[in-house]
Amino acid sequence: MTYEEMIELAKEASRNAYAPYSKFAVGACVLTENDKIYKGCNFENSSYGLAICAERNAVGSAILDGERKIKAVAIYSPNMDNCTPCGACRQVLSEFKSDSGLDVIVKMGDGIKVYSLDELLPETFKL
Ligand code: THU
Repeated sequence: MTYEEMIELAKEASRNAYAPYSKFAVGACVLTENDKIYKGCNFENSSYGLAICAERNAVGSAILDGERKIKAVAIYSPNMDNCTPCGACRQVLSEFKSDSGLDVIVKMGDGIKVYSLDELLPETFKL
């Protein structure tokens, strides 16, 4: 699975986003250490603060399937390029970072851009 293919899966997932309030659809796809892929989309609520981001939805599916180490996450929004995860999702992703790190892949123009989670969230809170 290439990172470009992961962005395509995230794009597919974004089509199922439930975002009637913000109109901001997001799709995500995580790749685990066992080379499994899980998709997620954001879903909102009339009680606005209850919105769940695409990234955390995808992480939840991976956890449900017994996965614990995430190597990469791809994020896609039709609304903008460079859709990096919000702070809450960065923290949630950091909990499941693989031993070799976690790449964050976003769409950028006709291509992709890859960040490391460590650069997006230095000094992660950890118990
Ligand atoms: N959202 C995501 O799904 N992922 C992000 O990284 C940023 C924000 C969602 C939450 C909400 O449904 C909408 O985008 C607008 O904030």
